[in-house]
Amino acid sequence: MNGGACGGVKRFSIVRHRAAGLRNWRAFLTRRASVVARMYQSFYGFREMPFNITPDPRFLYLSPTHQEALQHLKYGVREKKGFIVLVGEVGCGKTTLCRRFLNELDPDHFDSALILNPRVSETQMLKAILTELGETKLARSQNDLVAQMNTVLLERIHRGRDIVLIIDEAQNLKFEVLEQIRLLSNLETDKQKLLQIVLMGQPELKDVLAQDELRQLRQRILVHYDLRPLAASDTEHYIQHRLTLAGGDGRPTFTRWALKAIHRGSGGIPRVVNNLCDKALLSAFIRESDEVSYWDVRRAIRDMTNLTV
Ligand SMILES: Nc1ncnc2c1ncn2[C@@H]1O[C@H](COP(=O)(O)OP(=O)(O)OP(=O)(O)O)[C@@H](O)[C@H]1O
Ligand SMILES: [Mg+2]
Repeated sequence: MNGGACGGVKRFSIVRHRAAGLRNWRAFLTRRASVVARMYQSFYGFREMPFNITPDPRFLYLSPTHQEALQHLKYGVREKKGFIVLVGEVGCGKTTLCRRFLNELDPDHFDSALILNPRVSETQMLKAILTELGETKLARSQNDLVAQMNTVLLERIHRGRDIVLIIDEAQNLKFEVLEQIRLLSNLETDKQKLLQIVLMGQPELKDVLAQDELRQLRQRILVHYDLRPLAASDTEHYIQHRLTLAGGDGRPTFTRWALKAIHRGSGGIPRVVNNLCDKALLSAFIRESDEVSYWDVRRAIRDMTNLTV
């Protein structure tokens, strides 16, 4: 009898303990993210957060697909191919790659303009490009802006500069703006294009470019690359790469099953990998463990799914 009663109390206390654990976990999540983040950062001795979701090119891991994408960008610009298109699923690393590519352009030879928000009118786009190229006095009307753009580009090209225009999130470009960009690309000698234009975007960009009215532009795309999600082994290297760059000294380790679960749960999409790793690290930290387990990742996946349904 006694034993049974004791067992009942014990079970009850386990349930209570688990419930308290869950409450603690929820409480952790609801605290300000930066405070919690700082806690696990210092617990594991990271110099900075390993799985931030900002497109910081210092953290770029050149998986085979990222390497190929970068080579395509470099090749297209070096060989003056005119239009270059890079397509990739949401969170695959397009913006991070593009920042790395820009950092690698030799400033002694290249002028570049990076447009991050292309949901604009033709006039606004022309102004944005000129501003990015460092022009301060801008014409007002669309016609005058086009004339100014031609003058600016030709003057720079005569000075021996190469000009690269990169438009991120290009799936959001309006038809008229794409047409305007195509007209800019008409600037050419009989040998080569004078303005290199990189369009980067999510898979919808392909649908945009597939429109019949844009076949003239489509025909000018000579370099095109599809960025793929990470393969399972790349996901592992990617995680290790970010932990090392953040100053990790080998603590914590991710178990083999944890890594498998991260790859399966993320589909190899780096932003989702970051999200899962961040949450799994937090879970391991709450257990004060030096090992991120399969169960930490399951918890992270559950937490991410709760937020997204
Ligand atoms: N190859 C990589 N190496 C290191 N970090 C990466 C890599 N690819 C993506 N990331 C990280 O994943 C996150 C998302 O990357 P990024 O913003 O570049 O994706 P994106 O393709 O531009 O996404 P979106 O379609 O939403 O614009 C960032 O934190 C970025 O640092
Ligand atoms: Mg992006």
